[in-house]
Amino acid sequence: MQFKKLWIALGFVLVASFVVLGGVGYKAIKSAPPIPSQVVTTDGRVLFTGSYIQDGQNVWQSIGGQEIGTIWGHGSYVAPDWTADYLHREAMFILDGSAPQLGAAGYEALPAEQKAALQARLQTSMRRNTYNTETGTITVTPERAAAYDKLAAYYGDVFGNGRVQYAIPQGALVDVAKQKQMAAFFWWTAWAASTDRPGQNYSYTQNWPHEELIGNRPTSATMVWSIISFVLLLGGVGALVWYFGSKKESEEHEPAAPHRDPLLGLRATPSQRATVKYFVVVGILWVLQVGLGAITAHYGVEGTSFFGIPLAKVLPYTISRTWHLQIAIFWIATSWLATGLFIAPAVGGSEPKGQRLGVNILFVALVAVVFGSLAGEWLGIQQKLGNLWFWFGAQGYEYVDLGRVWQILLFGGLVFWLWLMYRALKPALAKRDENYPLLMLFLVSSIAIPTFYAAGLMYGQRSHLVTAEYWRWWVVHLWVEGFFEVFATVVIAFLFTRLQLLRVKSATRAVLFSTVIFLSGGIIGTFHHLYFAGMPTSVLALGAVFSALEVVPLVLIGFEAWENLRLTRSNTNSPWLGMYKWPVYFFVAVAFWNFVGAGLFGFMINPPVALYYLQGLNTTPVHGHTALFGVYGMLGLGLMLFCLRALKPGMPWKEKPLAIAFWCINIGLLAMVLLSVLPVGLIQAWASVENGTWYARSAEFLNTPLMTTLKWMRIPGDTIFAVGALFLGWFILGLLTGHSYETGDVKAKVRLMDAQEVAGD
Ligand code: HEM
Ligand SMILES: [Fe+2]
Repeated sequence: MQFKKLWIALGFVLVASFVVLGGVGYKAIKSAPPIPSQVVTTDGRVLFTGSYIQDGQNVWQSIGGQEIGTIWGHGSYVAPDWTADYLHREAMFILDGSAPQLGAAGYEALPAEQKAALQARLQTSMRRNTYNTETGTITVTPERAAAYDKLAAYYGDVFGNGRVQYAIPQGALVDVAKQKQMAAFFWWTAWAASTDRPGQNYSYTQNWPHEELIGNRPTSATMVWSIISFVLLLGGVGALVWYFGSKKESEEHEPAAPHRDPLLGLRATPSQRATVKYFVVVGILWVLQVGLGAITAHYGVEGTSFFGIPLAKVLPYTISRTWHLQIAIFWIATSWLATGLFIAPAVGGSEPKGQRLGVNILFVALVAVVFGSLAGEWLGIQQKLGNLWFWFGAQGYEYVDLGRVWQILLFGGLVFWLWLMYRALKPALAKRDENYPLLMLFLVSSIAIPTFYAAGLMYGQRSHLVTAEYWRWWVVHLWVEGFFEVFATVVIAFLFTRLQLLRVKSATRAVLFSTVIFLSGGIIGTFHHLYFAGMPTSVLALGAVFSALEVVPLVLIGFEAWENLRLTRSNTNSPWLGMYKWPVYFFVAVAFWNFVGAGLFGFMINPPVALYYLQGLNTTPVHGHTALFGVYGMLGLGLMLFCLRALKPGMPWKEKPLAIAFWCINIGLLAMVLLSVLPVGLIQAWASVENGTWYARSAEFLNTPLMTTLKWMRIPGDTIFAVGALFLGWFILGLLTGHSYETGDVKAKVRLMDAQEVAGD
């Protein structure tokens, strides 16, 4: 077998990583904060039962869950983190309640020593773990019970009457019984965040959120593993530089580009032509998603209206944000699926029987799932689906928001896609020629996409939050930081080999090598999402170390970007290469954003001590946008352009709208982040370090004039971006209607190119 060592390394990394991810995950779920059988007070009152808390979790999920504020820092950023908010309000309620005995109206009015004494008493009482493993009860003081009564009424008011500054419309949750249940769930998340783990001096959530009133500060492990993660990152970069240095001499030279476009002679097969409508849907969804993003961002300043229009009546923040994220995933996935379907018959060399029908059936199914699930989310979040919310509405978990039935259907669609891919690739696989390893990698990454989506089916409606979070991150993280990276690398290498710009052998080696490197950090790196999600210290330590290693290849990704540019630029003998300029520019942008968005902004929030303060602040959307859109969105657009280019080779494009689109999209993204979201995030970070997580997310802090101005500063970047989106949409439309092709002297141009090619031959 070729590249034997690399294949063995890949096998080892996969097996070892999943053993660790699975084993440590299993233990982590076992040591999750318990859901008590009941919560009682020291004077014998039963506050509520465990199933009441679970009912409350379901209520929270059904109204949008993580799309409305955050729990344990996971979710959306306009409303508070309910854990930190509850904790702070509870602490202040108890402290203020004790102040009159000391002769002051409230806690803040007391002299420093008395404040310190009250605070110390509160800290001891809140941190003490009163969970009884035999009876399953948690015992709390009567004052904590009184705090619950008061806060249940308070949250009832927030969700019943709405809060503009949290972008919660009036009537978001009107059922009083449900409001109380949800408050019990908030209580439980706050209990887990403040109560010491058995035998330890830190809470179930590793002392997250930062809250000085109860002594929630970064743990020793949080500090030490952060330091280790920095050093490891530098070590990894050094090792890789060493490796590249040692390889330089032995590098083989890539072939000169052929004189003729190798794809020119190919006629698109029926199934390939059938993929065009997928790209039309991509274009529509993309424009829709950008519009929803603008609306969602705008709710950050106006709460429930859009430039004065009371839009939240039909499209509240929770739904616009759910749609914004879901549509992002849908259009990116659609462009990838279509690219796969487009490439497969070209690689296989023949069109399997009935392939076009399969491609068309999948299309109809995908459209049904996309629009069905979006409609379900709209109904579910507005409480119009009754008990069916989990199945047809929104599950309340970010990124896998769609109702369970849609989720299962989507999984089925992905499996069907895989089958279509396989039958088209089969003839090429059977040949076992030099393309075989690259094809296998392509197939493996294609298998991984549905497989890891299925991890989202591992929890149910009433699963413990820790279980749901563990599996949810399998989907999100293992996709974007694992197998998507592999898929992206393989597909781009593959396209370059099809254009005969790369030798298959060197492409295969490079792809295998980078796959091993990516996955050796990427799989266990999943734990960086779980540092503070009710997990033990082992998760934090492993997450910090392995995710730091993920950044190593990203630091050096500039090499790859240059390589791609060089391949298409250097060949003056092959003018046809110019036709692929814009798809390749999008691939170069993928590398740029992989470095900036995933590498820099990812690492900014990655060391545990950084995320301890930053979790749930705007620094996460800084990373989220630049990495998810910057890398995979840009890849989706590049792949789409590549396929549309290859569909009609030899017909020159009108490039101006495409050039405007490309630069507007990239500059707009950069401006959005640098002028608005990053400064907001960094100022919040300061507030979080100084005053606690609750404060950095509070309405009083987020609505100061400076913060409001900075939030408005999204407009320039968002506008430039939207202009780019529209130009791209216009250009793609023009590929269908014809207005995006050069007219007039086009025939002369093509003849000229042919003449050059003949001269070259
Ligand atoms: C192209 C690759 C990547 C993509 C598409 C991506 C995407 C995302 C997204 C969308 C989130 C937001 C999750 C949420 O809303 O809760 C996120 C969170 C996070 N990412 Fe990445 N990411 C990538 C690479 C990385 C890398 C390389 C690192 C660092 C090693 C990293 C570190 C993190 C961390 C620590 C969080 C958690 C932030 C929080 O919970 O507040 N990511 N990522
Ligand atoms: Fe991640």
